[in-house]
Amino acid sequence: MKLSAKQAVDVLRAAGEPTRLRILALLEREELAVLELCRVLDQSQPRVSRHLKLLAEAGLVERFPDGAWVFYRLAAAGRQREVIGEVLARLNPDDPGLARDRRKLDDVQAERSAAAQAYFAENAAQWDQIRSLYVSDADVEAQVLKVAGPKRFRRLVDLGSGTGRMLTLLGPHTEQALGLDLSQQMLNIARRNTTEAGLTNVELRHGDIFDTRLPDASADLVVVHQVLHYLGDPAAAVKEAARVVAPEGKLVIVDFAPHKHEFLREQHQHRRLGFSDEEIGRWLAEAGLPQTEHCALPPTRADGLTVKIWAAQRAPTALRSAA
Ligand SMILES: C[S@@+](CC[C@H](N)C(=O)[O-])C[C@H]1O[C@@H](n2cnc3c(N)ncnc32)[C@H](O)[C@@H]1O
Repeated sequence: MKLSAKQAVDVLRAAGEPTRLRILALLEREELAVLELCRVLDQSQPRVSRHLKLLAEAGLVERFPDGAWVFYRLAAAGRQREVIGEVLARLNPDDPGLARDRRKLDDVQAERSAAAQAYFAENAAQWDQIRSLYVSDADVEAQVLKVAGPKRFRRLVDLGSGTGRMLTLLGPHTEQALGLDLSQQMLNIARRNTTEAGLTNVELRHGDIFDTRLPDASADLVVVHQVLHYLGDPAAAVKEAARVVAPEGKLVIVDFAPHKHEFLREQHQHRRLGFSDEEIGRWLAEAGLPQTEHCALPPTRADGLTVKIWAAQRAPTALRSAA
């Protein structure tokens, strides 16, 4: 579908201002909180918010509140997005202003990931207790087993494997398992836990969920358990996880439903306070894996959190389905 002349003018007018173009270029990299944009742009919050409002009204960015924070991301695919994508693709990356913004965003991201790394290094030994503070591990694990299904898996990949709980849970149902994590401290504990569980089919590897270096379609079960809410770009992590899922294989994501425990950002490095079904469903669809089921496990105590499990299955290959 084409844009009407009025729509084209609205899009061009919204993007046709230096700060707003800079904002679009930054959001092309990842979703950002308003305060992060203020830091990179070195502008006051009211000014940045005014620009964001105009961009949102023109359908170029999406605003999504998350607890007390507000995040923005580039609008999902659509006519307006295509026009802007075209403009952003033609920007010279060496433009001094844009290059400076990119460096500042690198600094913001580096600070964020250093804080998260330090948190996981410090808390690796207590992680199993921390995880069970707000949810019932037993309920979640029973549901994960149910969603994974009764079949035996050839290869399980657990992204952000932490202390290896998903590996010890699902390892006995799989021929080969791989846990990937960015924290050496977590990997060391996972190594001990999987060995103590008598699992000889588990490999633990240092790696980044955004660039796993795993072959396409190489696992018939991929799990991302309580990882997305720490990440700067959860949609990119879902895309990378989906890439690894083999035909007829499953991706199982476990995380929190939207909540208001703001202190989890300060004290436990959470970036996002949960995810909506719509958001995860959209990321899965964009990654080529239509969601097959989702379920909610309500909190077992007053200050607990609702855990969500979203599962998606890759279609069989054309050849196999024809056969
Ligand atoms: C909250 S823990 C969850 C661990 C495990 N899945 C569980 O539920 O017990 C999150 C894990 O994600 C890992 N992590 C965070 N960012 C990551 C990244 N970019 N790539 C790989 N692992 C990451 C952390 O090191 C940590 O071990």
